[in-house]
Amino acid sequence: MDGKVAVVTGAASGIGHATADRFRAEGATVIGWDLEGSDAAVDVRDEAAIEAGFAAVVAAHGRLDAVVHAAGVAGGGPVHLVPGDEWSRVIDINLTGTFLVGKHAVTVMLRQDAVDGERGSIVNLASVEGLAGTEGGSSYNAAKGGVVILTKNMAIDYGRSGIRVNAICPGFIDTPMLRSVFTMDGMEPIKRDITAAHQLGRLGRAEEIAAVALFLCSSDASFVTGVALPVDGGYTAGHRHGVSELMGLA
Ligand SMILES: NC(=O)c1ccc[n+]([C@@H]2O[C@H](COP(=O)([O-])OP(=O)(O)OC[C@H]3O[C@@H](n4cnc5c(N)ncnc54)[C@H](O)[C@@H]3O)[C@@H](O)[C@H]2O)c1
Repeated sequence: MDGKVAVVTGAASGIGHATADRFRAEGATVIGWDLEGSDAAVDVRDEAAIEAGFAAVVAAHGRLDAVVHAAGVAGGGPVHLVPGDEWSRVIDINLTGTFLVGKHAVTVMLRQDAVDGERGSIVNLASVEGLAGTEGGSSYNAAKGGVVILTKNMAIDYGRSGIRVNAICPGFIDTPMLRSVFTMDGMEPIKRDITAAHQLGRLGRAEEIAAVALFLCSSDASFVTGVALPVDGGYTAGHRHGVSELMGLA
């Protein structure tokens, strides 16, 4: 990543924070965006702020090589219990925010010269919950499913311009977002069940997602675009029903 310029959204916490740290350690110039506590205060619902934010990055650093879009919020509930404004909040931040960040990142990347055939790389944080339904997921799953398809569409639209667009679909990752859900009343047995649904038998770490974001933004991934890559400890691999125990496996 030496000499590359990257914007990481949601950089004040969790996956975004770990990604910004890892990119910096690999030699990138990283500009972190978040509501507060990062290099720049950019709300991913605010199109004017996003456009101005990217303009400031190009003015200061000359180009924009990579964007890892990790800003997001938890949310959901069975639909008959979800107020309309709560539905809109989750869709606005998680899906429309991805559109707005992607729109202005691509606009900047299209204007710059290609380096080694590449104008830029965008990685969106979707989720395993964008690949299949989850109990009570509703707005969150709908947003993340939208992020998966938007990512694929952008890969098609901009591939010939040398811009790669991919999504990471993390399993359940031990970050402040997940902790805020797991500490809600009655969640302890659900946490145990969710943890066990990962075939590796544990939750993921933010650094394990940052490592994949790094790969996707690096030239090692020069032929990778339009994928929604599960990084999920086997959560989407399938189901266990106790047969392994019957056969003497762990
Ligand atoms: N933690 C998980 O289990 C998990 C699993 C799958 C996908 N994800 C996704 O990964 C991404 C990062 O999640 P995390 O677990 O690190 O969460 P987190 O809550 O630790 O970090 C998210 C960051 O996004 C910021 N943010 C929220 N709304 C914003 C807005 N409107 N504008 C700018 N920044 C805003 C928050 O301030 C926060 O710093 C999210 O998109 C999340 O949906 C997380």
